[in-house]
Amino acid sequence: MPSFETKLNTTPPEPPVPVMPPFPYTPPQYNGPSTEEIMNLRNQYLIRQPPCYKQPLNLVDGKMQYVFDENGKRYLDALAGVSVVPCGHCHPDVKNAITKQMESIQHTHVMYLNHTVTDYLQALAAKMPGDLKVFFFLNSGTEANELAILMARLYTGCNDIITLRNAYHGLAPTTMSANGIRTIKFNIVQTGAHHALDPNPYRGDYGSDGEKYAQDVQKIIDYATSGKVAGFISEAIQGAGGVVELAPGYLPAVYEIVKKAGGLCIADEAITGFGRTGSNFWGFQNQDVIPDIVTMAKGIGNGTPISAVVTTPEIAKVLEGHSYYSTFASNAISTTAGLAVLKAIDKDDLQKNANDVGSHLKEKLTALKDKYPDIIGDVRGRGLMLGVEFVTNPQDKTPATDLTNDIFERMKNLGVLVGKAGLYSNVIRILPPLCITEADADFFAAVLDRVIWEIKYNEGA
Ligand SMILES: Cc1ncc(COP(=O)(O)O)c(C=O)c1O
Repeated sequence: MPSFETKLNTTPPEPPVPVMPPFPYTPPQYNGPSTEEIMNLRNQYLIRQPPCYKQPLNLVDGKMQYVFDENGKRYLDALAGVSVVPCGHCHPDVKNAITKQMESIQHTHVMYLNHTVTDYLQALAAKMPGDLKVFFFLNSGTEANELAILMARLYTGCNDIITLRNAYHGLAPTTMSANGIRTIKFNIVQTGAHHALDPNPYRGDYGSDGEKYAQDVQKIIDYATSGKVAGFISEAIQGAGGVVELAPGYLPAVYEIVKKAGGLCIADEAITGFGRTGSNFWGFQNQDVIPDIVTMAKGIGNGTPISAVVTTPEIAKVLEGHSYYSTFASNAISTTAGLAVLKAIDKDDLQKNANDVGSHLKEKLTALKDKYPDIIGDVRGRGLMLGVEFVTNPQDKTPATDLTNDIFERMKNLGVLVGKAGLYSNVIRILPPLCITEADADFFAAVLDRVIWEIKYNEGA
């Protein structure tokens, strides 16, 4: 491999303009309101939610791993609405199941019976390890995490929760307290959450030594609590934090420490669940632990709003005798979608695909890191939850936010949608539908290669 200096001084050959793999589908002609009309209406009626691209993108159709804009231009959806569409857009089985259910009954309340709920419960329970057997359905990841923390507090009789710096768990008061990123916190009263050192192998003080980071949790228990805690919550791979996989060995060490302090361990599987990490169905399984409570959201309904909390029958008892319920908890459409998602993941072998295509893509991205070592600081993640961190200086790892924005925009122009994440928005995050192919992965890498090359060697392209 040429030295770092040599690489900086040599212009690599121009990568060809990438061509998207063929796909046998043409969306119908779009006759709806134009991008401009929609933008005007959004600006008038929507509480501030700016579109992510300089030139807003009006998506009017989606099939499997692709989405289409109003002009019929196709994009590889490497974000999937932030991990919401694991089976692919408008997956035929999910669509048919929902449509069929719409013909009988759409919604019942938890006080009535309906088999869609129990059918789904059985299938979901079969995916859970240990004694994680009883569920509570909600609508979003935020709500699921709020309930999980509430249950931990009720069960233990303690208030203190340990969470991680760089974590994201939602935007209601308790979850906002648990968030560890200033950009997703407001300056309101936030109590009861203590933020432990982030076991970040790229930026953390202890590299990949998970057990060393875990000692910080012990210190928090000793110095910031009564010695007893309600619990610990974490993602297995931090999503909004920039696709940071917790250092190996971290979760087993922390779970032991937290259990000794009487706390419950909560795994937030909003992104890492449902086979996305490839090697396992749930992200926590990659660190060989079994949580006391697991929350799931996002991809659970392939775009239908539903989330869930699962715990042990013993812990679940804390909700008995009180009225804690959610109106849509027994929504027949959501639970039908959830069941169809589980079936599609198995039928289409999506977890294996996430593993195979994810490993292939990671290799390609790592090759790009070798090619552009001065701006790609890190390539990381697992399965189809991958991240590429951009820096302006590989030695001190200064975040390259402007460069990342530029890459993000240019990738879109070449037909690839990605997300941005991390405190400094300098990580491209890759969370495609789990049905993407190796050819899509090659296309993705070719687009990133081309875009970086244009920025570095053909400024203004
Ligand atoms: C790990 C994690 N937990 C919780 C949430 C909150 O989910 P929701 O937006 O459905 O409330 C998110 C959303 O991005 C998330 O990434």
